[in-house]
Amino acid sequence: MLAELACFEHHCGERHSITEAIYNCPKCGGLLEVRLSGAVDAPALKETWRERRKCNQALDQSGVWRYRELLPFEGQEASVVSLREGNTPLLDAPRAAEYGGLDRITFKHQGFNPTGSFKDNGMTCGVAQANRLGRKRVACVSTGNTSASMAAYASAAGLDSIVFIPHGNISYGKLAQALEYGARTLQVEANFDQILALVRALAKRLGIYLLNSINPFRIEGQKTIVIEMLDQRDWNPPDWIVLPGGNLGNVSAFGKALRELLELGFIRKMPRLAVIQAEGAAPFYDFVRTRHEFRSVADPKTLATAIKIGDPVSWPKALHEITSTDGVVEKVSEQEIADAKAIVGRCGIGCEPASAATLAGIRKLTRAGVVRADEDVVAVLTGNVLKDPDYIYRYHTGQLQDPEGRPISATFGNRPVVVPNDPDAIVRILEA
Ligand code: F0G
Repeated sequence: MLAELACFEHHCGERHSITEAIYNCPKCGGLLEVRLSGAVDAPALKETWRERRKCNQALDQSGVWRYRELLPFEGQEASVVSLREGNTPLLDAPRAAEYGGLDRITFKHQGFNPTGSFKDNGMTCGVAQANRLGRKRVACVSTGNTSASMAAYASAAGLDSIVFIPHGNISYGKLAQALEYGARTLQVEANFDQILALVRALAKRLGIYLLNSINPFRIEGQKTIVIEMLDQRDWNPPDWIVLPGGNLGNVSAFGKALRELLELGFIRKMPRLAVIQAEGAAPFYDFVRTRHEFRSVADPKTLATAIKIGDPVSWPKALHEITSTDGVVEKVSEQEIADAKAIVGRCGIGCEPASAATLAGIRKLTRAGVVRADEDVVAVLTGNVLKDPDYIYRYHTGQLQDPEGRPISATFGNRPVVVPNDPDAIVRILEA
């Protein structure tokens, strides 16, 4: 298919070559998206994609590049570095369904990715684009997962990477990954939104290629989360796809994927998107409720640090995707996130705090009658349970506090017990 960069603003619509290293429209400053044009044979491609699962070639094994016909990298195979991203499972979770007020729920668990989050789906494309452009130095601002993913893919590709993170505000699991994968790691004394503005200003001076989710090629890669999900469901769209919202890149990617799949004849029905934000970092929720002007939150607060973002850059795209899928936006409290997370854990599945916002949001949406119990719901768990072990330990031992210092109840707490080295004492404790 033919691919171009197009300004997302309808009144502008400027087009640029996909080989230009730009992140915003040079004419109006709007967001950019990759525009694919041309037709495909959907039934034939469905067969090809299924066949590729049996193949040992790296590109076919990747749950991103398997779907390369819908990505803007035709003829660019040599630019691709794959860590076998994607291929994430759909998991049934009856206990979570009951908690969420549903007859059934399926989790699409992106924490099974090589660096433990959905960012890998997009990053393999972002790094392929850096390679195509001949850029040797990449950078991102991150609440943790983007930096872990970028560090890994950049190193695998032999590129230098610079990570900018809010000092003291990302989990150790994620910081550790950036260090281990070899990124130059700068902990800036500012929040995510402030650092993003800083790095956008620095990009030219330092000759870096920016791999934040404003980069439209990352969004293209994240489309494959939805494409793979539908492939795994034999192209039967669910009623709802639920996901957490931070910088709103992922909802933009999901909506774009669904629009393209519908237009190209892969699916006949549009699922509805539900975006869940944390109460202390919910500017998109507020905006969709009021539909006045978009107001950022100057000092976002949540223990779900992955989505601690007050000024999400992709909100115009996210608004479009929520509108075109008849979607909804909900917000949830710190207690609701913590309890939902423990329930996902009890299903034997587990996820990081931001991901659990999905189940907490579903519980609210079923109680409000927005989602019906018998509807077919897929919730996307965006990050692995081991990303933030500190949060888990505090919750289960009753030490977790919200950002205002108020205690979070260990509703489903599971305290470890210290025992003496004495078999009789251990039997007494376990059989009490
Ligand atoms: N869940 C997790 C685990 C995340 O890491 C993020 C974003 C989101 C949800 C929200 O996705 O921004 O596309 O709406 N993390 C980014 C990062 C911001 O830097 O790792 P979004």
